Amino acid sequence: MQHIDDTKLYNDGQYRFDYVADFMEFGETDIKAIQAVAEQVRPLIPVVVDAVYKKLFTYDVTKRFFLPKNEGFEGETATTLEALTLDHPQIKFRKDFLSRYLNKLLDGPYDDRFLRYLDWVAKIHTDTPQKKSKINVDYIHVNCLMGYVESTLVGGLLSLHLDRDTEAKALAAFNKLLWIQNDYFAKYYALPSNQIKEPSSFSSLTGPHVLSTMMGTLIGGLAVYFGFIKRS
Ligand code: HEM
Repeated sequence: MQHIDDTKLYNDGQYRFDYVADFMEFGETDIKAIQAVAEQVRPLIPVVVDAVYKKLFTYDVTKRFFLPKNEGFEGETATTLEALTLDHPQIKFRKDFLSRYLNKLLDGPYDDRFLRYLDWVAKIHTDTPQKKSKINVDYIHVNCLMGYVESTLVGGLLSLHLDRDTEAKALAAFNKLLWIQNDYFAKYYALPSNQIKEPSSFSSLTGPHVLSTMMGTLIGGLAVYFGFIKRS
């Protein structure tokens, strides 16, 4: 049995990543699986990006975050939700950033710099003193979008009709990578179990990062399993 230092999970980024990656069994095989399909997946990025913004614009509760001037955007902003369209310059600007993010997920290298980037992407969605535009997206929307991105990506991967082994490995690898990103979000939204006011006998098992990690592993396992069943 490995000992994991509970406190260090919250104050040492590398230690936290090592634990989460080890738990999900994300490693060399996954990196190779992503690299093996990267060039085939890349043309799907604009499709994923368009789908993401179409989805975020379906609800006022998510669309409203795109009305204020985004950091680095110099053009005119729309003044009403109705006037903010999917082809508005600020949305084109946002779409470029999301494309860059997805390209980075494909490209790696999955080193310290990359992990700091995943951490930063999560952090900018919360209201932090280091961030000028101060958006404060509630976790419910992040979770919805993570699920949506994942299923869009799964659909995209399946549409490539890769051989069964390549497809299964790629599905598992992308799934783990997105759940790793989700842990970076969880880090900013979820309290460590030792800071939850009413301790319960399950608190150490139901701590947010443990639950998120277990869900990632479980869903990844199921996706690959059902992928096999469907194809066999
Ligand atoms: C799947 C989860 C999400 C991912 C991976 C993600 C990714 C990103 C990325 C890569 C950026 C650009 C960072 C840069 O400037 O390079 C960004 C910015 C932004 N995201 Fe998200 N996002 C997620 C969820 C959401 C949700 C749910 C909303 C709103 C409902 C949202 C609203 C925004 C806004 C408004 C910005 C611009 C912030 C600014 O610069 O002022 N994001 N996001």
